[in-house]
Amino acid sequence: MNYRHAYHAGNHADVLKHAVLARVITHMMKKDKPFRVIDAHAGTGVYDLGGIEAGKTGEWEGGIGRLAEPFAAEVEALLAPYRQVIAALNPQGGVRIYPGSPELALRLMRDSDRMIANELHPQDAVTLERHFIRDARVEVTSMDAETCLKSRLPPPERRGVILIDPPYEVKDEAERTLRMLAHGLRRFALGVFVVWYPLKADRTAETVLEGIAELKIPGTLKVELRVREAFSGGGLAGSGLAIVNAPWRLDEELSVLVPQLAARLGLGSWGKAAVEWINAPT
Ligand SMILES: C[S@@+](CC[C@H](N)C(=O)[O-])C[C@H]1O[C@@H](n2cnc3c(N)ncnc32)[C@H](O)[C@@H]1O
Repeated sequence: MNYRHAYHAGNHADVLKHAVLARVITHMMKKDKPFRVIDAHAGTGVYDLGGIEAGKTGEWEGGIGRLAEPFAAEVEALLAPYRQVIAALNPQGGVRIYPGSPELALRLMRDSDRMIANELHPQDAVTLERHFIRDARVEVTSMDAETCLKSRLPPPERRGVILIDPPYEVKDEAERTLRMLAHGLRRFALGVFVVWYPLKADRTAETVLEGIAELKIPGTLKVELRVREAFSGGGLAGSGLAIVNAPWRLDEELSVLVPQLAARLGLGSWGKAAVEWINAPT
């Protein structure tokens, strides 16, 4: 396992993923009934953008670093939960401490909601465990993500958000992701599954999207943010999320939010957004 999220925290892909995740959690809280978040690839929880790893790549500067100027009011209203968590972590202003997905979700969730944060990398799992040790709402596990979902689904609350956010560093990761999603849905058909995928000059995104379309689950939404052209050896040109059992009207919100993020994060005129149903709700 070579991937460490500390090098990439706060980049354009994190901004998309976390702004969307914050909207999904906000929708879950519209009902009083508690829910559970299962973050199958959790990372370490929080990231120091002034630290050595983030400084080596400077990726955050092209992501959260570009969000200092406010957007129009309707966009800021949709970004508010994400912004509030960042502000709470940085009381002195600016963004030095950046929330990873489990920290973001947990800071938005209520006392009655629960989280499983799973991370396979042994060192990052220890960091994650230490970070959440005082929060009784969180169970930190260190398993392969597939095993974690098999052992923890369905959640006792029968309401939940499952984040599948692998690094796609091994060759069959797209297939593994699809397997995880299909198994997960068999165990928990009503879960809101959020699957991240990279936009690069390869077929990863197509493989993931074709596999998800084949599941034919109504209410499966796709949201993508591209910051530049993809070329061979050029790395991450953008990213996407497939959201299965997308909350009602999430599509309308993201159709307002994501084009504005793409315009801000894109290089030159390259910023592009897509918000489309893979399978429309019935
Ligand atoms: C993209 S990062 C996660 C970032 C995090 N979800 C966030 O948004 O803040 C992917 C994480 O998955 C972990 N990972 C890689 N393979 C895994 C596996 N098979 N099972 C569980 N975790 C894995 C990596 O160590 C890494 O921390």
